[in-house]
Amino acid sequence: MAYSEARVLAGGLAHIPILVGVFWFIQSVLLRRLDPKKQGNTASDPTQRKTPAAEKTADSSSPKAKPKTKKPAHADVPVNTYKPKQPFVGSVIENYSLLKEGGIGRVNHITFDLSKGNPQLKYVEGQSIGIIPDGLDAKGKPHKIRLYSIASTRHGDNFAGNTVSLCVRQLQYEQDGETVNGVCSTFLCDIKPGEKIKITGPVGKEMLLPEDEESNVVMLATGTGIAPMRAYMRKMFEPKEREKNGWNYRGKAWLFMGAPKTENLLYDSDFEHYQKEFPDNLRYTKAISREQKNAKGGRMYIQDRVLEHAKELFELIENPKTHIYLCGLKGMEPGIDEALTSAASSKGLNWSELRSQLRKAGRWHVETY
Ligand code: FAD
Ligand code: A2P
Repeated sequence: MAYSEARVLAGGLAHIPILVGVFWFIQSVLLRRLDPKKQGNTASDPTQRKTPAAEKTADSSSPKAKPKTKKPAHADVPVNTYKPKQPFVGSVIENYSLLKEGGIGRVNHITFDLSKGNPQLKYVEGQSIGIIPDGLDAKGKPHKIRLYSIASTRHGDNFAGNTVSLCVRQLQYEQDGETVNGVCSTFLCDIKPGEKIKITGPVGKEMLLPEDEESNVVMLATGTGIAPMRAYMRKMFEPKEREKNGWNYRGKAWLFMGAPKTENLLYDSDFEHYQKEFPDNLRYTKAISREQKNAKGGRMYIQDRVLEHAKELFELIENPKTHIYLCGLKGMEPGIDEALTSAASSKGLNWSELRSQLRKAGRWHVETY
């Protein structure tokens, strides 16, 4: 073989790996185009395309993606603006008895000025505030706070948005032949307009009203348990409140109120008035324990009234727009449960299951003390 022939042959052989490489490259590109599974993404195959939700999930798993933040319910409700170590110091505007002549004990409506607060103590219907009574306890330490349900709406009784009102029963009991007066409730019932008052809070999200203007609101109150209900009633039926909130309540509200005597019915004339003005939206049922008798001849309690109206109440409870509020004496809870258990069983329902469903749905609200 001549030298030049040998060079041509060697040069041709040297191109073989290059040709094999080019061929392999073209084949793999063509195959990828034809077979989506080998493409490394699913965009061209609609059956493989991720749903927007799945894409979101995939996106959010990337370390750069922000975690999904769902705003918790009632996140805008103010809580603990003032704490026990640094309470707000307000002053008393008014303090008057809610009882008629001959009523049992002392129950007062007390209003405090909040206007000088910085920040101002704001609250919504259904919350409570803490009160630190003046003076020292038996150990010489400042008294601890006591909680009281707020009886006014966020606009206050004067609609100026800078007051808060409470409904307080003086605690009194007999011990070793002597009358003992509760520290804070006596302090509050005795406090005079112009005097200073240490306030904490607001607290509580258990007793808030639903936002739906068409919700149904069943209220079961004993004694001062009427406090949050008075705020609800004003929000629902007081013309100025309706105007201020632009909230035109159109649901069914039903207040069951327990008091020992007619003279002890709290805010009764306001509620009677609302019932007259809104007969299609408000029912008001009273259980006057020491004047009326239940079916068994005993004291008439609100649970007896609940039993009397069980059928209508259950129709309301079965409606998902209905919320039930219980407030007042702790002792009323078993009685209400018993009444609702027997009312439910006559409809073939299990009350404890139903109650836990209501609670999970945020429709069963209890504040007893
Ligand atoms: P204290 O001096 O603290 O005396 C209470 C203590 O006296 C009890 O702990 C107990 O040891 C003892 N005692 C009580 N009764 C007896 C008795 N019969 N025999 C023997 N010992 C007894 N109250 C209202 O008036 N209106 C409200 O709107 C209101 N809302 C509340 C909301 C919440 C969320 C809570 C938790 C409580 C509410 N209370 C309300 C109750 C309030 O907080 C006080 O507990 C109440 O005013 C009594 O406080 P006091 O300082 O007067 O009594
Ligand atoms: P009574 O005291 O006649 O037994 P107040 O706080 O103004 O005293 O009102 C509380 C009302 O609740 C009273 O009518 C009282 O009746 C009533 N009551 C007392 N115990 C219970 C209970 N276990 N269940 C329901 N109502 C009760």
